[in-house]
Amino acid sequence: MIELKDVHRRYRRVHALRGVSLEVPAGQRFGIVGESGSGKSTLVRLLAGLDRPTSGEISFQGRRIDGLPERRLGFLREALQVVFQDPMGSLDPRMRVRDIICEPLGRTDRARVAELLAAVGLPEDSGERFPHQFSGGQRQRISIARALAPRPRVLVADEPVSALDVSVRKQILDLLRTLVERFDLTLVFVSHDLAVVRRVCDSVAVMRRGEIVEQGTVAEVYDTPRHPYTRELIAAAPNLRAELARLKEEP
Ligand SMILES: Nc1ncnc2c1ncn2[C@@H]1O[C@H](COP(=O)(O)OP(=O)(O)O)[C@@H](O)[C@H]1O
Ligand SMILES: [Mg+2]
Repeated sequence: MIELKDVHRRYRRVHALRGVSLEVPAGQRFGIVGESGSGKSTLVRLLAGLDRPTSGEISFQGRRIDGLPERRLGFLREALQVVFQDPMGSLDPRMRVRDIICEPLGRTDRARVAELLAAVGLPEDSGERFPHQFSGGQRQRISIARALAPRPRVLVADEPVSALDVSVRKQILDLLRTLVERFDLTLVFVSHDLAVVRRVCDSVAVMRRGEIVEQGTVAEVYDTPRHPYTRELIAAAPNLRAELARLKEEP
């Protein structure tokens, strides 16, 4: 579904991606984990067609997207939607929620708004309200509803719960899992937090300084990490042990 071959991205002196190759098959829940500055968001912008690689190939559903001009990226804009970390920054405060949700459609469709509000667990009358009238978790639900509006095949989430209180993180993660299953989506899920990735993904790539240092199923990578950097990340994650124990207890 998504394929990257030897992708590089330089910003003047910064070499943000240094030869990233990966494949995300349809239906996978693919996690990208790594500390801040490792190039995760750069990778997200490239695969969403919001930025271009300095070199390398990016394909989506078998079509090269790395060289396409904006006017020919329409298919990607529909099929792949992104949810960002900061819902307040990505929601226009002057727009009503119904218009925000329908932004990717280019017209307001009230029936679709009602469906989407229900799908993300927001009250029916939310469409009439404005972003500031909602909590952080609810605003992220609005962003998710907007991302689902054009019926994408792929959802890319870049640190979607990192700005949220710990108490609401689990709710949003569980919502994402439910929606991915219900709408049969492919998920690319980016986080610096290993526990969060473990909760949502079945495969994971570990990034460090613009490179993927290790890749595999979450069970492989978390239970038998091969790269020293992965081991370091796991050792440095205080909540991971508890999270893994909790996952084993849950059905
Ligand atoms: N538009 C940009 N201009 C210059 N440097 C950038 C830009 N975007 C990202 N970088 C740099 O690229 C590196 C990777 O950043 P980023 O992809 O945001 O990492 P992450 O999301 O893993 O924290 C960082 O050193 C960052 O400062
Ligand atoms: Mg980032």
